[in-house]
Amino acid sequence: MVPFIIDSVAGALALVLLGAAPWFAAPAADASLFVGAEACRACHPVQFEGQSKSAHARSLFPASGHPLAGRVTSSRAVLLDGFRYDFQLRGSRLAFRVRAGSQVRELPVDWAFGAGDQAITFVSRLDEDHYVELRASYYSALKGIALTPGHQSYRPRDLPAALGVRYKTFSPRSEILSCFGCHSTGMPALGGELEIRPAETGVRCEACHGPGGRHVSLMAKGDIEAARRAIGNPARLKAPALTRLCGECHRPPAAGDVAIDWSDPWNVRHQPVYLSESACFRRSSGALRCTTCHDPHGPLRRGDPAHYNRRCVSCHTAAAHPPAKACRAEAGCASCHMPGVRPQPGLTFHNHWIGVYRAGEPLRPQR
Ligand code: HEC
Ligand code: HEC
Ligand code: HEC
Ligand code: HEC
Ligand code: HEC
Ligand code: HEC
Ligand code: HEC
Repeated sequence: MVPFIIDSVAGALALVLLGAAPWFAAPAADASLFVGAEACRACHPVQFEGQSKSAHARSLFPASGHPLAGRVTSSRAVLLDGFRYDFQLRGSRLAFRVRAGSQVRELPVDWAFGAGDQAITFVSRLDEDHYVELRASYYSALKGIALTPGHQSYRPRDLPAALGVRYKTFSPRSEILSCFGCHSTGMPALGGELEIRPAETGVRCEACHGPGGRHVSLMAKGDIEAARRAIGNPARLKAPALTRLCGECHRPPAAGDVAIDWSDPWNVRHQPVYLSESACFRRSSGALRCTTCHDPHGPLRRGDPAHYNRRCVSCHTAAAHPPAKACRAEAGCASCHMPGVRPQPGLTFHNHWIGVYRAGEPLRPQR
């Protein structure tokens, strides 16, 4: 069946997604102008090839299609509060199994969120009104499954509840719709059974550039100048505006009156919030951007200190605000000045509040 948006819930969709992703700032009519990354491929092959390898592009899959699905089904069962969890392959479909004593419950898995560079969390539709975020996630660093992030305080009493945290599809906060808002591109639609259908899985071109329909059709007509004006180009944004664009999903820098709990290690994953606090960002007249260190069209450079060192020393020369004597480039500038934080086993985020840290205190710089 062709996906469609039901009028009565279109409002709920828009409400929930408003503010969840930058392209929802665009007028609703623009939803039809999303064309998908494939449409950009022929004319922008370099950006297309690079971006397709990024975790952005891989941040959502139909569950059985996830490239790491095999590792998930071969993971050992995990025991959480007396419930035993594992993933099985049933035909070509991934299934989630919970056991307690002689009782067994199995649920087909619909969606896999997360590229798996760090973790994959699974989501299934229960019925017309509910989705469930499954209680066990796969962690690459642990090479296995363990409790889903954010479920630490959830204590299920029976087998149905033990599947995971249930969400009403159209609750005012609709956590489930917002997952799709940040992990997919374009306007999600609803199918005949009120199931959510993302327009395009993963964070692709139009999540950052806005809908590309007019750009493509004007280019095809040869009206190049009008075509260039018809597509968003973040290169033209000043550093704080670019930080907000990335912050639509990575969380925006704190507004004046919002207090951030700097002692909560989970907040470190909100890079725009932390970067905006650093002297490097505040005192470099807009020269420091997310794209100074990250290629928006390629995978994250992990375990490549030389890549980041080159960025640091482009500003921290011997003449202009030089590094201190304590600094040793070989170790990687970021290893001391952007320390890794582990809010739970299996997940690491780097503190983007670039600064001088005391050993063992990675949450906030000492000055
Ligand atoms: C028919 C060919 C064609 C297609 C299809 C196409 N583009 Fe372009 N695009 C161009 C050309 C040509 C330019 C101008 C290049 C230049 O100035 O170097 C351009 C420029 C751009 C720019 C820079 C605009 C500026 O500020 O100058 C962006 C961003 C962009 N395209 C994104 C996209 C995205 C996203 C898609 C897919 C939705 C897409 N393009 C599809 C041909 C195309
Ligand atoms: C539409 C939402 C969205 C926007 C906008 C967005 N991101 Fe992301 N980003 C994500 C999601 C979701 C992930 C998680 C990917 C995964 O591991 O599944 C991610 C992951 C990343 C990663 C880690 C990639 C990796 O390989 O582990 C980097 C770096 C990143 N984003 C940088 C940026 C920058 C820079 C911008 C702005 C130019 C930006 N993002 C804009 C949603 C977004
Ligand atoms: C406001 C946007 C946003 C929403 C809503 C959102 N995510 Fe994400 N998600 C991200 C970003 C950004 C990252 C990358 C975090 C990083 O690497 O710093 C991410 C990363 C992930 C990852 C990779 C592991 C990790 O924790 O980094 C998983 C799994 C994930 N999200 C699942 C979900 C699920 C399931 C939901 C809904 C319950 C959800 N996300 C809702 C933006 C969002
Ligand atoms: C995470 C956000 C993000 C995504 C996803 C993304 N871009 Fe970009 N794109 C940017 C940013 C940021 C710039 C500006 C780069 C700069 O400042 O040099 C840019 C610039 C461009 C440009 C202008 C030329 C250039 O490279 O600077 C083109 C063309 C382009 N993107 C095409 C694409 C295409 C095609 C895709 C999908 C395959 C895509 N982008 C996906 C953020 C993104
Ligand atoms: C775009 C330029 C730029 C880049 C890139 C940059 N910085 Fe900075 N950094 C600055 C400026 C400007 C200051 C403030 C200097 C001052 O106040 O004298 C600063 C301050 C610092 C400080 C002192 C912080 C404090 O709170 O006193 C440290 C440490 C630092 N940078 C480390 C780094 C590291 C490590 C990197 C790479 C990961 C980096 N910087 C990248 C411009 C930059
Ligand atoms: C001065 C360099 C620098 C700038 C600027 C920068 N990052 Fe990073 N970022 C890093 C380093 C270093 C890592 C860790 C890489 C690794 O794992 O080896 C990282 C990792 C990440 C990750 C993966 C999760 C994590 O926290 O480890 C995300 C997502 C990310 N950055 C997003 C952003 C966004 C969004 C911005 C702009 C607000 C930004 N970064 C600006 C250097 C930078
Ligand atoms: C082994 C850990 C370590 C590494 C690696 C390291 N630093 Fe530092 N850095 C420090 C410490 C500790 C201080 C504070 C020294 C002090 O207060 O005397 C510092 C201070 C600084 C300052 C502030 C200087 C000032 O006077 O305010 C800058 C800028 C800086 N580092 C940049 C860098 C750059 C750029 C690199 C990579 C080339 C780097 N650091 C690598 C530990 C390190």
